[in-house]
Amino acid sequence: MDEKIPRRDAINYLLGAGLVALGGATLYPVIRYMIPPKASGSGTASVSAAKVGDLKPNEGLIFKFGDAPAILVLRPGGDPYTASDYVAMTAVCTHLNCTVQYRTDLKEIWCACHNGHFDLQGRVMSGPPPAPLDMYRVAIKGNEIFVTSEKA
Ligand code: FES
Repeated sequence: MDEKIPRRDAINYLLGAGLVALGGATLYPVIRYMIPPKASGSGTASVSAAKVGDLKPNEGLIFKFGDAPAILVLRPGGDPYTASDYVAMTAVCTHLNCTVQYRTDLKEIWCACHNGHFDLQGRVMSGPPPAPLDMYRVAIKGNEIFVTSEKA
């Protein structure tokens, strides 16, 4: 018995499948926009920020902490093998979310956007930032420098 699909049914089937695909392609980004991903910084997170020796005393580097930048600084005169000689904090300025940087000349964290200054404990020293930078814990395991946030 010949079971050919009539031409009209085949066209309707293809048209229906195309409409379903178009609907999915249209709705997916809308749904993704309406349901944002979990904010970073919730819960405990730990990342390998650098290797021992990547920083000299009085140097800092920006690294990726979840989906936000963070900054790791080896204090002036600090020992690269001693975790307590490092400080780490978010690099997202509390004013308008610019990325801060370490100023070796000032030995401070500095936000270039509006001249905000923070000390190495993340406290605001001057400028418009309304709140301190969130500090992270630093630990050395083997040759890796791990940074951990315990924000609830
Ligand atoms: S965004 Fe940092 S001081 Fe304005």
